[in-house]
Amino acid sequence: MLVVLASAAPVARSWSKEGHMMTCQIAQDLLEPDAAHAVRSLLPDDVGGDLSALCVWPDQVRHWYKYSWTGPLHFIDTPDKACSFDYSRDCHGPDGAKDMCVAGAIANFTSQLLHYKHGSADRKYNLTEALLFLSHFMGDVHQPMHVGFTSDQGGNSIDLRWFRHKSNLHHVWDREIIQTALAEFYDKDMDTFRKQLEHNLTKGTWSDDMSSWGDCEDLLSCPTKYAKESISLACKWAYNGVHEGETLSEDYFDSRLPIVSRRIAQGGVRLAMFLNRIFGHHNRDVAAPSWPHLQSDY
Ligand SMILES: *[C@@H]1O[C@H](CO)[C@@H](O)[C@H](O)[C@H]1NC(C)=O
Ligand SMILES: *[C@@H]1O[C@H](CO)[C@@H](O)[C@H](O)[C@H]1NC(C)=O
Ligand SMILES: *[C@@H]1O[C@H](CO)[C@@H](O)[C@H](O)[C@H]1NC(C)=O
Repeated sequence: MLVVLASAAPVARSWSKEGHMMTCQIAQDLLEPDAAHAVRSLLPDDVGGDLSALCVWPDQVRHWYKYSWTGPLHFIDTPDKACSFDYSRDCHGPDGAKDMCVAGAIANFTSQLLHYKHGSADRKYNLTEALLFLSHFMGDVHQPMHVGFTSDQGGNSIDLRWFRHKSNLHHVWDREIIQTALAEFYDKDMDTFRKQLEHNLTKGTWSDDMSSWGDCEDLLSCPTKYAKESISLACKWAYNGVHEGETLSEDYFDSRLPIVSRRIAQGGVRLAMFLNRIFGHHNRDVAAPSWPHLQSDY
């Protein structure tokens, strides 16, 4: 039933609820005290300080009239087969509006949040929303197929089967791989999956990589690096060898699950790094927000 509903819905592009929630929980668990405090104080009271409870909010509101402008911020369309991302070439909305893509959105909401500490009374932006958008889009930019080819809408128009049911290549990366992993290995329990990811970060396979994942000179341009990684993974692991109408099953699942898992973990580590720097004690970035289109606003 769910599958039928999902495929009848308008083109949806988003990490599954689980992908976003795990990314946000991993991030929140890595926050230093200043950032943890700022995040709690920006969240509405009814979520009890749990960022992951609202990490899918941007997907819920994107179809509301008031937020229709946020639709293009969830992804990037790159030229077919180019397998590259070029910010000035590719980061725009359907009408050509500059910066209206997931990399531009991360820079935008980061820049807004950098003004949190200034605490000016007439804040122009809603920083609760900025936090939720940043957290959500950090997940999206790490989903390889959110930086996909233009003509197939990031794999949305490549219909195929996932084991026995109908799906498409975008959905395989958004949710099928995660859902299958949850069912096969984690008794459908997302917390167990997340704890495994966190274990691999702190004591397992990724513990050596973790600090390099957080390397980032300039917060406002790092999303470009993450988007480049995504399109390159999309070409190598998502599109490669896949044909419309075919059935993807065990082989594809086994070889791609490690990529999906790593991207969720990376998204979490990087979201934490962003939030720690934005709200941190020794915030180097506050004095000089350098995102060109926002500078004039302040
Ligand atoms: C940045 O956010 C503001 C609202 O907070 C919005 O009007 C603007 O379009 C956004 N731009 C991007 C690139 O996200
Ligand atoms: C900020 O946005 C949240 C979520 O949309 C909303 O609930 C809240 O009322 C807004 N705050 C202000 C001051 O407008
Ligand atoms: C954690 O690392 C081990 C060893 O590389 C791997 O077998 C396992 O699948 C990883 N777990 C997750 C959730 O990625």
